[in-house]
Amino acid sequence: MESIAMEWGNLLLRWLHIICGIAWIGSSFYFMHLDASLRQIPEIDRGGETWEVHGGGFYQVRKYLVAPARMPAELTWHKWQSYSTWLSGFFLLMWMYYLGSELYLIDPAIKQLTPHMAAVFGIGGLALGWLVYDGMMKSPLAKHVVPLATIGFAFIIAVAYGFQQIFSGRGAMVHTGALMATIMTGNVFMNIIPNQKKVVADLIAGREPNPEYGYQAKVRSSHNNYLTLPVVFLMMSGHYPLVFSSPYAWVMIGFILVAGALIRHFYNERHAGRGDKWWAWIVSIIAMLIVIGISVWSNPGARDQLGLAPLDAPLVQQAKADLPKEVENVIVSRCSMCHAAQPVWDGIAAAPKGVLLDEPAHIARQAEAIRVQAVMTHAMPPNNITEITGEERKVLAQWLAKK
Ligand code: HEC
Repeated sequence: MESIAMEWGNLLLRWLHIICGIAWIGSSFYFMHLDASLRQIPEIDRGGETWEVHGGGFYQVRKYLVAPARMPAELTWHKWQSYSTWLSGFFLLMWMYYLGSELYLIDPAIKQLTPHMAAVFGIGGLALGWLVYDGMMKSPLAKHVVPLATIGFAFIIAVAYGFQQIFSGRGAMVHTGALMATIMTGNVFMNIIPNQKKVVADLIAGREPNPEYGYQAKVRSSHNNYLTLPVVFLMMSGHYPLVFSSPYAWVMIGFILVAGALIRHFYNERHAGRGDKWWAWIVSIIAMLIVIGISVWSNPGARDQLGLAPLDAPLVQQAKADLPKEVENVIVSRCSMCHAAQPVWDGIAAAPKGVLLDEPAHIARQAEAIRVQAVMTHAMPPNNITEITGEERKVLAQWLAKK
């Protein structure tokens, strides 16, 4: 019962989260493009106009900076795309990583945390991330783009490194992504929308709005735009063990930030009519090749497949687990050829989803996942490629029934 609820909760929240995220990122791309394609017209002092064609008609869109002379009768606000993405993501994080922390967030080989401590570190990290970013944006540093970007970049990498010292690989990746996403939604909720509201209040009262509000909102929404591609990569990377199971995932994050931001830069410059900066693509591709290189160099299974000498990894003492011998036999003979630190199955370079099923302690930790994948459903082994029998599944079911 519990595993059915966990599985469905996970799927429904993820569905919602992805839909909201598509709407949010779509509008971020749309408005960046719109801003860049505005052209000056005599009727508008500051701002501009652009024409677009879509869905069987032509649109004439105008931007008034900071605001039009009078308050329009109707105004559409763009904020719920952002709020709903953050809220659904936060619930998904709680559902999967905090309720299921023993499976996804806590890796005893890295740090023995209680589920409570893990959640406190996770949520605390997100809050701290916002406070540091917002503090930087309110300091004189905000006016100097290059130092701001450099310090912001170093800060994200430092946090990613910190998360890797306390959480599982997947947990560290998703929390680094969530930290950036929290900064993005924080920008909308704490700065962009409140500033817009002040402008609206000024318009209604017949006062001249302060241009500083519009300027700040634009800067923060550009930051959001540059973060979109890296955030999506980090959210997906939890499914790809070549990335998240590497102890150097935090270094990879640095290169992914550079690659993702540069690709956004290419398009923002192109749409603004400032030409095609192809160098941005070249640097991004080099950065991604370095990421792939690090993933291979630092994962034992991938090194092995390329015939590279193994790295000297410190031996981690696993706690003794109380696992029935017949369960161990089933799992080792039907699952561990893929689910091991150095998989022997052709085409599998790292344990799928980071799930290790090679020794009793690892197997015991994955009990709930084994229930979902091999007892409740027959998703594993994939297409029953290792020919697990009905009897063997029963052995697993009987063991799990006692849990
Ligand atoms: C031929 C290789 C192979 C074998 C054998 C195999 N698996 Fe897997 N396993 C995979 C792959 C590939 C994935 C990732 C699937 C995906 O990307 O959705 C996976 C994913 C998983 C996951 C994580 C699912 C998730 O979405 O988080 C669990 C748990 C799992 N397997 C358990 C088992 C168990 C238990 C067995 C033995 C009964 C087993 N696997 C046998 C290849 C294998």
